[in-house]
Order: sequence, then structure tokens, then C-alpha cells
Amino acid sequence: MIPQQTDYKILPSILSADFGKFAEEAKTVDIQEIDHLHIDVMDGHFVPNLTIGPQVVESLKKHTRFKFDVHLMIENAPEFIPRFAEAGADFITIHQEAVIHLHRNIYLIKEHGVKAGVTINPATSLESIRWVLNDVDLVLIMSVNPGFGGQEFIPASVEKIRQLAKWREEMGANFIIEVDGGIEPETIGQAYAAGARYFVSGSFIFSKADRPGAIRSMIRSIEDTRRKMSSKLV
Ligand code: DX5
Ligand code: ZN
Repeated sequence: MIPQQTDYKILPSILSADFGKFAEEAKTVDIQEIDHLHIDVMDGHFVPNLTIGPQVVESLKKHTRFKFDVHLMIENAPEFIPRFAEAGADFITIHQEAVIHLHRNIYLIKEHGVKAGVTINPATSLESIRWVLNDVDLVLIMSVNPGFGGQEFIPASVEKIRQLAKWREEMGANFIIEVDGGIEPETIGQAYAAGARYFVSGSFIFSKADRPGAIRSMIRSIEDTRRKMSSKLV
């Protein structure tokens, strides 16, 4: 169980769930510790995969109590931001690499009453989002190349998270740092220690029969890291 007053969240990514039964799959992670699902939207252009549109999001919303963290891996974000907002997104995150007018689109998300996130691929520099860091609610650090679940965590992401957390402190900004890709008990502690607080995890959770058990094994790993941090061991 997540202890009271935690400063972190685990967000199951339904990319690794059975696409034929999203509502049932969502129920398998419906435990007290979880309050958001991560929804990966892919267009077959920005990334070489196709997934979920606004209609699926709207339908799934009716069958679950979860908030939706929508990760847009699409080229035509301006067209789809309003549609995902209407479909019930609580966060919408857009890729710096996929959007020409990043600042304008962050405000398009906010105008729809949705929390706005920006994300960067593993090879993209933090500098590319520096001038929107005061405008966003969330920054997602991709720790794999987007497109597929089940890839290995890229270790350089840890340093990127650390640098971002340092900038946030220097700027006095208060966006959430989220990490997505290859998150499991071995990697989640390092990402937490570096400053990430929202952890997206797909294949590690959905490949297991016991999904609450998988989620709790990651929570244990974070709690271990927190103990080490308070004893100054990490
Ligand atoms: C990758 C997606 C991720 C994916 C993570 O493009 O953005 O959200 O579901 O999957 P795992 O946890 O398996 O790396
Ligand atoms: Zn994602």
C-alpha cells in the first residue's frame, strides 16, 4: 500500500493491456494506490505504431473512475487536443519534436481546462523546452524511444531528470517530473532519487497475472530509495 502523504504516483500504461478489453484491464489495476491511467496515442507518423483515438478514451472514461494522463505521440496535435480534452483527458502531454508552435499548443491544452505537459525523446536536449518550463504542469522525460512498450530503460535519462529537477529549483517552477519507458523495480528507484515523481509503467504491470503485486513491488522499491535518501545513502 502507498503510505499516507506520498509525493509520487504510479500510472499504469494501457499500451501493454489487452486492446480487446480495456475496461476489464483497467479494473485489474483499480486499487487504492492508483488514480491515473496513462494513455498512449500514436498516429503511425510521429512514431511507427497506431493506437488509440478520442472515441476510445471517451468510452473507457465511462467505465472507470481513473483520471487520464494522455500522451500524444502525433504530428497534428492542434487538431486533436480539443477532441481529447472533450473525451475526458485530465493531462495532455505533447512532444516538443512533433509540434511547431509548442507554446501556443500548451495554452490550447490549458484553455480546455486540462493540465498541460511537454515531453522530449531520449536524444532531445532539455534546452529545447527551457522556455516553456514556466508554462507547463508536467514535464515527461522519455526513457525509451516512443512507439512501443517493453523496451529497456535508457540510463542517461537519470541525469536528464536530475538536471531538470535542478533547473526547476533554480527557476522556482513547480511542474511535475514524469518518466516513461522501461520503468520497473530496478529502474524506478534511480528515477525517484533523481527527482521524478510520476512513473508510467506498462509491460512490467500488464505482463503479470498479479498486477497489484507488480505495482506494489515498484512502490517497495521507491520506499527503499526514500529510506536510503533520508539516511543519505543515495
Ligand atoms: C512508449 C510509451 C510508454 C509505454 C511504456 O511509447 O510512451 O507509455 O507504454 O511501456 P513500458 O513500461 O513497457 O516501457
Ligand atoms: Zn507514454
